[in-house]
Amino acid sequence: DAELAAKGEKVFKKCKACHQIGEAAKNRTGPILTAVVGNPAGAVDGFKYSQPLKERAENGLVWTEEELVAFLAKPKAYMKGTKMSFAGLSKQDDLAAIVEYLKSFGV
Ligand code: HEM
Repeated sequence: DAELAAKGEKVFKKCKACHQIGEAAKNRTGPILTAVVGNPAGAVDGFKYSQPLKERAENGLVWTEEELVAFLAKPKAYMKGTKMSFAGLSKQDDLAAIVEYLKSFGV
């Protein structure tokens, strides 16, 4: 849904301090988010993940839409000890929109 993705692009402003997305994206404070939806967690080359994220990745965590929504709603509650310092998105609309935006960069 292009309209929802456009709303998601606005929501992504909250992520931009730490994340880049798209073809020319580079790791910054956070890992590149290109093609994150549907792919295994902790898989971006050259990014130093936290221990808890590495453990979840080893246990097979895949960033499905459902897992992303749960993580992005409350990162620190979803993953105790994550180094993603972000309070989370409290609005369901924003969560749906950000996932749609992330999906627009490959699945
Ligand atoms: C990790 C999304 C905001 C810093 C991640 C991951 C996703 C994500 C999907 C896991 C990536 C992977 O497994 O490869 C988002 C979105 C945001 C957001 C959609 C906005 C709504 C932020 C902000 C910061 C940040 C504002 C910095 C203050 C990080 C860091 C990690 C991470 C450091 C690695 C976490 C760890 O190793 O425990 N983010 N993020 N993120 N993000 Fe964010």
